[in-house]
Amino acid sequence: MALKPVTTPDVEAPTIELTVDGESVQARAGVSLYDVISQTGRIVPAMCYHYTFDPFGSCGMCLVMVEGKKAPVRSCTAKAEAGLIVRTEGDDLFAARKKAVEKHLTIHPLDCPVCDADGHCELQDMAFTHGVTNLVNPKPKGLPEDRRSLVLDFNMNRCILCGECINICKDVQMIDALQFFKKEGVTHVVAKGDNALECEFCGDCLAVCPVGAITNKYSKYIYKPWQLKKTVTTCGYCADGCQMHIEVSGRDVQRVTSPLSWKNKWGDRAETAEGHGGLCVLGRFGFQYIDSKERLAAPLVRTEDGLTPASWYDAINLVKDRLATIKAQHGPNAIAGLITARCTNEELYLFQKFMRVVIGTNQLDSSARYGHLNFVRAMQHAAGVGRMMSSYADITKAKVVLVIGADITETNPITGLRVKEALRVYGAKVVVADSTVTNIAKLGSHPLQIAPGGEGWFIKGLVKSVLDEDLVDEQAVSTAAPAFDALKQAAAGLSWESIIAGAGATKESIIEAAHIYAEAPRAVIICGHGVTQRANGYENILNLVDLAWVTGKLTKPGCGINDLPEEANEQGAVDMGVAPELLPGQASYADSEARAKVERAWKTALPSGSAASANLMEILERCRAGQIKALYLVGENPLATLPAGSGVREALEKLELLICQDPYLTETGRLAHVVLPVTTSAEKDGTFTDLQGKVNRVRQALELNEEVRPDWEIFAALGSLLGSPMDYEHPNAIQSEIMKLLPGYYNLGEARPLVARPEQYLANDYVREVATRYGAGAAPVPADRPFTLIMGQVLYHHGKLSTRASGLIQLYPNKGTLQMHPDDLARLQVEAKDGVRITSVHGSLEMRTEANANLAPGSCFFPEHFNEPPVKDLMDCIVDPTTGVPTFKLTRVAIEKIGSGKEGDRQVL
Ligand code: SF4
Ligand code: SF4
Ligand code: SF4
Ligand code: FES
Repeated sequence: MALKPVTTPDVEAPTIELTVDGESVQARAGVSLYDVISQTGRIVPAMCYHYTFDPFGSCGMCLVMVEGKKAPVRSCTAKAEAGLIVRTEGDDLFAARKKAVEKHLTIHPLDCPVCDADGHCELQDMAFTHGVTNLVNPKPKGLPEDRRSLVLDFNMNRCILCGECINICKDVQMIDALQFFKKEGVTHVVAKGDNALECEFCGDCLAVCPVGAITNKYSKYIYKPWQLKKTVTTCGYCADGCQMHIEVSGRDVQRVTSPLSWKNKWGDRAETAEGHGGLCVLGRFGFQYIDSKERLAAPLVRTEDGLTPASWYDAINLVKDRLATIKAQHGPNAIAGLITARCTNEELYLFQKFMRVVIGTNQLDSSARYGHLNFVRAMQHAAGVGRMMSSYADITKAKVVLVIGADITETNPITGLRVKEALRVYGAKVVVADSTVTNIAKLGSHPLQIAPGGEGWFIKGLVKSVLDEDLVDEQAVSTAAPAFDALKQAAAGLSWESIIAGAGATKESIIEAAHIYAEAPRAVIICGHGVTQRANGYENILNLVDLAWVTGKLTKPGCGINDLPEEANEQGAVDMGVAPELLPGQASYADSEARAKVERAWKTALPSGSAASANLMEILERCRAGQIKALYLVGENPLATLPAGSGVREALEKLELLICQDPYLTETGRLAHVVLPVTTSAEKDGTFTDLQGKVNRVRQALELNEEVRPDWEIFAALGSLLGSPMDYEHPNAIQSEIMKLLPGYYNLGEARPLVARPEQYLANDYVREVATRYGAGAAPVPADRPFTLIMGQVLYHHGKLSTRASGLIQLYPNKGTLQMHPDDLARLQVEAKDGVRITSVHGSLEMRTEANANLAPGSCFFPEHFNEPPVKDLMDCIVDPTTGVPTFKLTRVAIEKIGSGKEGDRQVL
């Protein structure tokens, strides 16, 4: 890297003193002079510089005078040096900058009236501030617009060749999809090879382009920037917590922009200095789900004619009457509730309070049960922490990042940028263990393709390596000698044959990874669905705790164990106590002191006894058994999520009352007795807690339809109707209540640092527990089902929500094809026109295939966002005995060629 950063966690650049406009300024030697000047509050014009990548020095705008130099100096490429005397203003500089603007305008058309950037254009601003009133020697290019990309149009008539788009794509995104390319004497920005742009469509190039040379197809010619109402809020897709600007006119969402833009190279830099400030394709181009025509516009109640529109008065009273009747006839435990972690903290809090206080049951759960609770429960149990341990800054500054079973650039692209930054800026070693050759594996220093589902074995192999290779931190283990002995004994019983067979990696590669991790002064572990959403997810995390503990990294600053929760507010769901085993603040429901505190605050006794408590899978079981008669689903769609073999349909069909509260009519909603239409996160106020524990504001960007209400309002109304007044007029009132119960939770701005406390665990339960964790050998691959079928996420989708966004469906439609390694396709002699029959113990279905060379041979993949064909119904559903987490995204299958596929082939046989 050229100029930035000069100070790293390992090397601190010396502080120097220089003078800017007569003011004495302190700076780190070697940083960009532009940065030093910006930090004094002065705004020097700049059109090609952006703090996220190295200075390019093309535009000639950032000129300053440095004493001793005859000509003005480009401050972005100049380094700060001790004793420099810098001047940033003056007629000479103004004239030089004006000349630069005039030069840019010679190759830029004055088509502002039809340009999307009109009113939000750096060149326009520069021309205005420098009083450029005449075009000097204009050379119009007369080029047709390049419309080959699905999302972005390139108008090279407007391009000033600043290079920002190319640089951010290469340096920050490390995708390198763009290049300068000379055609017929004119330099263009084109996709690599002058092809149609195929990239991750993060939109960073669009965001930093200082003019209207790159435009957004989804928002073109429908607004002028000043006509839009802009609301700063938090993205509702993944848990990265990106800040976004939803820009609307009337009831239409016109575009989403980000704090990252050409503007924040100076004034509002503080907003993005803590992070990248950009968005991924979901956040930037996946906004159409908000004002989708599929949104429900009124409540629906079941009549003889099916689901029929009803008034809110009728619908809510029906829900109230039927809940009251069921409770009176069968008791509170005949009712249960499930809520999505796409709701705000305030809604999640109110939901669990509603279920516990108004209904009087502890049968409640959230979508965090689908995996994140494996991580939280294991980390709470072993280390006393209930969320990801590392901050974004810790990831960036780690010397080693160990990525296990996490396709981070697909599931959490902006957290993925932190790993890229660690690689690119600080030269970190990045070890990636995954059965798929992921994007981060392609960039990482140590990519390791392991067996599908081999993550748990890889982790065990790391622990064994650390013990065998004596990579142990003596100080860390000395305080818990019996626990360490027990671990050594347990790991000694584990053979390398089992590890190699289970992990699908060589002994040498596992040992090498263990050395890299153990010997690093700062090492961060990031695990994803391949760890937490697998049958041994809870155990896998405990084994990672072993690894971090014995290498001295469990309590060491800058180190940490982290997972990537799926939905936007899974951490919030856990923190708000939406789980039968947890109270708000992650206190244990079984802890009498914690219960007493909540009971005092709520002035009521909490439900008690095992009959009153049930998690997701227990709730479905009780529905099937007829014990639970009414199920209240808030944004949850278990019919579309769980495999058929879990018995989810039988459970739902047995109910006397199924209430679905959702923005859309879902598969589960079609079975409901009452459907209540609710707002998305773009239409309500509240907060989300991101994966690093930071609480971010969610703000209402628009009101689409007054018949559609936020979830919290419905809980409050129902509570009051059922005799427990819930007088909240706004989410702020709920927030005040949470603040009293959980002081310090609303740490807006900063995630509270976590310190692991494993002492109790190592002293008490450990010796007994560890004995069983390293024992069994890898299950043999069944001879009649040699392939591993994996369902997982892709970049362009998130859960099922993104399938409602037309922009994302355009980028990644459901092709209904099974992705297989080309070698497997060749071995089975399957061509594109052919179908395959895929068979698991749960049934068969027929579908076409497509080649994906990134997969491990012997594995196949289908995106979990789509249910057509119903691949999920081939899956096993294995419930973790400790955490109740159901896992159902990996199974063994047979695949056979069935000849030319026809549309009608796609069905479960
Ligand atoms: S959208 Fe993102 S990935 Fe695609 S070219 Fe622009 S910066 Fe690169
Ligand atoms: S397209 Fe925009 S960002 Fe890219 S070089 Fe041209 S003006 Fe600069
Ligand atoms: S989906 Fe995640 S990474 Fe993408 S913009 Fe939203 S919060 Fe950021
Ligand atoms: S040359 Fe410095 S900002 Fe462009």
